[in-house]
Amino acid sequence: MMVIGGSSSPKLSSSLASELKATLARTEIKRFPDGEGYVRILDPLDGQEVVLVSNTFPDEKIVETMLFCDAIEEFEYSKFTLVIPYFGYSRQDKKFNPGEPISARAMVRALEVYPDRVLTVDIHADSTVEWFETCEAANVSGATEIAGKLKEIGVDFIVSPDEGRIRTAELVGKGVGVPSDYLVKERIDGNIVKIEPKSIDVAGKRVAIVDDIISTGGTIIKASNELKKLGAQTVIAACTHGLFANNALSRLGMCCDNVISSDTIENQTTSFSVAPAIARVL
Ligand code: R5P
Repeated sequence: MMVIGGSSSPKLSSSLASELKATLARTEIKRFPDGEGYVRILDPLDGQEVVLVSNTFPDEKIVETMLFCDAIEEFEYSKFTLVIPYFGYSRQDKKFNPGEPISARAMVRALEVYPDRVLTVDIHADSTVEWFETCEAANVSGATEIAGKLKEIGVDFIVSPDEGRIRTAELVGKGVGVPSDYLVKERIDGNIVKIEPKSIDVAGKRVAIVDDIISTGGTIIKASNELKKLGAQTVIAACTHGLFANNALSRLGMCCDNVISSDTIENQTTSFSVAPAIARVL
């Protein structure tokens, strides 16, 4: 098996190749003087099974993903799986206002023509993978890996910041061996969220808030403040995809005791890998 890593998550590609005992292909990725991207796969695929690991975030990585897909098509291979660790545009999975696109569906349509199979990781809405029509598609849960890291750190309680992540919080809680609960969130707009006051028994406990994405940090900040009001001893923010837009990390630092994220998007909080979860499915 051959793993090809795009420039968006090189550590994850390399960890995945190790997990699978596969070869990590050598690549060349550069830009032409006019800004257009260029990619090249430097090793032959020789009819092997091939796994491309490439995000659709930020925008330039969408093009890079497509170029790698096209380059792979020029080889002989037995099966081509596209792993999209962070599926950018997944949150616009419906029309919120007239005249808007369903951006997640647009991504699906642009990419489904190439691979035999697509794997996403903790995608915002599991139902998005059902839009892939011309290839197999599945979402991989990173809950076991998040739980492993939280167990190592030591937490007493897992909280989902909204109803959308209840199942993840339950799975992580089960993995750590501690109870879980959820808060109720209302999103006012892309920057503002409201968390409803709720009675959860977190007094004196080390609590972890588990979410798929941290972007502006608004959700976690509001959730953390609520948990501290309820008497939580410490609050850790744990997510799969750490985007940390608009200086989110420094604002999170003021209300959370720790912030951890996976290697789908490499950043200073990356502290666990989802490679084992992807490898299990592959
Ligand atoms: C939304 O439903 C997601 O699960 C995350 O809670 C959200 O994307 C986080 O965004 P932000 O950090 O900007 O509040």
